[in-house]
Amino acid sequence: MTHQRTPHHVAIVMDGNGRWATRRFLPRVAGHKKGMDALRACVRHCGERGVKVLTVFAFSSENWNRPADEVSALMELLAVALAREVPQLAAEGVRLHFIGERSALSDKVRDGLEKAEAATAGNTKLAFNVCFNYGGRWDIAQAAARLAARGEPITEASMAEAMALAHVPDPDLIIRTGGEQRISNFLLWQAAYSELYFSDKLWPDFDAAALDAAFADYASRERRFGKTSEQVAQKVA
Ligand code: IPE
Ligand code: IPE
Ligand code: MG
Repeated sequence: MTHQRTPHHVAIVMDGNGRWATRRFLPRVAGHKKGMDALRACVRHCGERGVKVLTVFAFSSENWNRPADEVSALMELLAVALAREVPQLAAEGVRLHFIGERSALSDKVRDGLEKAEAATAGNTKLAFNVCFNYGGRWDIAQAAARLAARGEPITEASMAEAMALAHVPDPDLIIRTGGEQRISNFLLWQAAYSELYFSDKLWPDFDAAALDAAFADYASRERRFGKTSEQVAQKVA
């Protein structure tokens, strides 16, 4: 084995909620609700498998372009989830972080995010980053803008420290469900050396067995980080 079997940091593009609903002649929002159930199970399973950081893409900078009723349903779903899920997550040792541009969110949602982060701030079992109104380009630009405002030099190290995900190492494994093979503005900076895994399963169908299949695939990869296979095998510098 050339690397740790279970990924330390797993990131997921939870795609396919709309199609899950449409195939059942249900409104798209029913798929998002079902997706929330899948996410709850996923957080628990990651904790059981020893994953230390889970980052999920819940709402992208580009998702504002959806019909207004779907956007408001997604905002409402977040508000409901904050009220309903946080006590359980707090009890399970999960530390919540919301990643993304908050100024565009309603006062109610913003307040909920802050309270959820405060309520789980002492937890260490699993860091759970929810990317909401997030885009990889937004993060790179806001990091560069902050450094520029402070008059600090822009280097790879200073940028990494100014990014919204600076509190965790880069993702080891990025999973995208729903059959599309694209990054859709997720973790552009942090994905430099992540292993990519694409599943045709729609997000509401992505269960514990599907997650284990992704972990097994990850465990079979050789991560070389620019080195040769021989170097990796011999563990030489
Ligand atoms: C992902 O599912 C959830 C969000 C983007 C909020 P989609 O809503 O994109 O589902 P599909 O891709 O239309 O099936
Ligand atoms: C990516 O899914 C964003 C989230 C899962 C939140 P999309 O469904 O928005 O991606 P595209 O637009 O099809 O690439
Ligand atoms: Mg989609």
